[in-house]
Amino acid sequence: MKDIQNIVILTGAGISAESGVATFRGPDGLWEGHRVEDVATPEAFARDSDLVQKFYDERRAQLATVAPNAAHLALAELEAKWPGDLLLITQNVDDLHDRAGSQKLLHMHGELSSAWCLACDGRSPFTGQMALDPACPQCDQFGHLRPDIVWFGEMPYQMERIELALTQCDLFVSIGTSGAVYPAAGFVQSARHYGAETLEMNLDPSEGSFHFHQSRMGRAGELVPAWVEEILSHGLC
Ligand code: APR
Repeated sequence: MKDIQNIVILTGAGISAESGVATFRGPDGLWEGHRVEDVATPEAFARDSDLVQKFYDERRAQLATVAPNAAHLALAELEAKWPGDLLLITQNVDDLHDRAGSQKLLHMHGELSSAWCLACDGRSPFTGQMALDPACPQCDQFGHLRPDIVWFGEMPYQMERIELALTQCDLFVSIGTSGAVYPAAGFVQSARHYGAETLEMNLDPSEGSFHFHQSRMGRAGELVPAWVEEILSHGLC
C-alpha cells in the first residue's frame, strides 16, 4: 500500500442528503421541483430573476433548519488530525462543511451564504432574501445582487488551485456525487494520471465509478466516519 501524505477530497450533494438537503438529481430528475436549467443558469436569471432569487432564498433559509451530519463531522476531524496535507473541495453550496469545522475547504460551485454584486463585483456574506432587492453591503447600490453560485455555463471557482492539488495528491476521495457534472467529474482521472490512489464513497455507483481503484457503496453518514477512523489509525485507504 502506497504511503499517503496528501489527500484531496471531493464532496457532492450526497454528503448533505442525510442532513435533509435535497440532492440535485432525484428520481424525478428535478431539483426541489424545478428543472436545473430553469433555476441554475445565467439565462434563467436573465429571463426570470425573481424565480431564481426566490429559489435560492428558499435554499438559503433552509440552512437554518439543517445541521452537519456524521460525514461532515468526520471530515473535519480528519483535517484536524491528519499530519499531511489535505484539501476538501465541495460542489455543495450549503455551509455544512464550514459548520462542521472544515477549514481547508473550497466551495468550487459557490455558496448560498455569499452575495455577488454585479454593480461593484464585490462578494459579501449574506443571510437574507435577495428577492427583496437589498443593497450591496459594499457599494450600497440596490438591485444588483445575485447568488454567488456557479451556474451551468460558468467557470467553477479556484480551478488553478484545485488542479495543482490534484497533481500533488497521493489519495483522491470522492463522496456523494453522481459524477455527472464536469469539471469535478474529471478530477478522478487527473488524480490517477498523476499517480494517486482513488476511492469513491456513494450510495450507488457514480457515472465515472469505473475510474476509481476502490468503490464503497452506502450512506455517507456511515461510510465516511468508518473510513476516517481507518485512515487515522492505519494510514490506509
Ligand atoms: N450517502 C452517499 N451518497 C448519497 C446519499 C447518501 N446518503 N444520498 C444520495 N447519494 C448520492 C446519489 O446516489 C448521487 O449519486 O449522491 C449523489 C448526488 O448526485 P447529484 O444529485 O447529481 O449531486 P452532485 O453530484 O453534487 O451534483 C453536481 O450538479 O447541479 C449541479 O452545481 C450542481 O454541484 C452540483 C453538481
